[in-house]
Amino acid sequence: MDLPNGQALLDENGLKKILEFIREYKGVDLSSYRQSFLARRVRIRLSATKVKSCLEYTRLIEKKPEEFNLFLNELSINVTEFFRDPDVYSAFGNIVLSDIIRRKEASGARSLRVWSSACATGEEPYSIAILVAEALKDKPDFTAKILASDVDAQALEAAAKGEYEAKFLQKIDPEILKKFFIPLGPARYRVREDIRKMVRFQAHNLFSEPPFKYLDIIFCRNVLIYLNRAQAKELFIGFNRALSPGGYLVLGKVETLWERDMFVPVDPRMKIYQKLG
Ligand SMILES: C[S@@+](CC[C@H](N)C(=O)[O-])C[C@H]1O[C@@H](n2cnc3c(N)ncnc32)[C@H](O)[C@@H]1O
Repeated sequence: MDLPNGQALLDENGLKKILEFIREYKGVDLSSYRQSFLARRVRIRLSATKVKSCLEYTRLIEKKPEEFNLFLNELSINVTEFFRDPDVYSAFGNIVLSDIIRRKEASGARSLRVWSSACATGEEPYSIAILVAEALKDKPDFTAKILASDVDAQALEAAAKGEYEAKFLQKIDPEILKKFFIPLGPARYRVREDIRKMVRFQAHNLFSEPPFKYLDIIFCRNVLIYLNRAQAKELFIGFNRALSPGGYLVLGKVETLWERDMFVPVDPRMKIYQKLG
């Protein structure tokens, strides 16, 4: 029986080499994905590109950024959801929000600013807004703004509507769903108006200067995969400038912060960092 090209080429060692290359040169750590899942997806790309070896495939990724995007699409990385990685959101509430609110109370400041810097269709900034609203529910003197941006205008248009099909909300805690989402019919919900009003959407490309300053928290999750190392460094420098002293940066769970001189890890497993100084 003829094996499809990719099937014959990929052994355990070849997969390891490809994944090491992607971690080293693209900064994407795929170690939390199942090996069998990764092997299946890599084989599809090996077949599609008709390369003759795993080494040749790493060279192709190096030469053609669009192949890396196709590889990521194959992994379905270009997706989002409410409270994606719930353990990250728990740590965000318990560690980050409580610290920021405590410090604001001590200093007399009463406004909170969060930037969701690759917000896609809005699930991330609305999740943040819900947790912030919960954390501030007994503190009427506080105000909070969730600034949300993305390079994809279509995604932003959908985000601003704040409407989602029920099938995409199945993983949300039923209490949260009941409290913060208004049913629009049997299979569609809209985010509650006061939560929508906390979020402001605008177009922004992460390759340009951050459009905001004096931020308490920046979310930059599951977008570093689109950037090379030099671009990511520029991005972190910009984030560092845009954050207030002691501000926090939250990355995607499979992403790596190479720059060790600007941020300290607060919860390295959840990829939560704090601005130094
Ligand atoms: C996988 S989604 C991540 C959404 C959300 N942060 C999350 O973690 O669920 C990646 C998003 O990054 C956006 N993106 C890609 N390159 C960008 C850039 N240069 N500037 C701003 N957004 C970008 C895409 O349009 C997409 O909406």
